Amino acid sequence: MKINKYEDISQIDREAKKDYIDRHSAFIHCENNAKKGEKFKVKVKVGDKFQHPDDPDHYISWVQLWNGEKMFAQANFTEGALGNSPGNLEVDFYIVSQKNLKLIAHAFCTKHGLWQSNEIIVEVTE
Ligand SMILES: [Fe+2]
Repeated sequence: MKINKYEDISQIDREAKKDYIDRHSAFIHCENNAKKGEKFKVKVKVGDKFQHPDDPDHYISWVQLWNGEKMFAQANFTEGALGNSPGNLEVDFYIVSQKNLKLIAHAFCTKHGLWQSNEIIVEVTE
């Protein structure tokens, strides 16, 4: 399966392309530091400046959170979860780690495939 990787939309000229990339991309929102063995919140939001449709034949059906090569978690959605209107799908994951994290999120659109976020490094300390 082709993986679409996030591109900085400020570097892209065409408005339609900015919208297309932004609304499909997963964005990770979390602190840069976590405490060893303690609950740590990682928010994954799909789209930043643009909203994705929530139509019966076109919606974001899942979001995954990865640590390097390992998948931590996946949240599944059906069409209509965002009220059949455009929006930014959002999931809060709570994880616990003993070691530094290299977080990546994936979002899957039923029409436009798999999209990968930028990588976020989280330092885990005592
Ligand atoms: Fe799409």
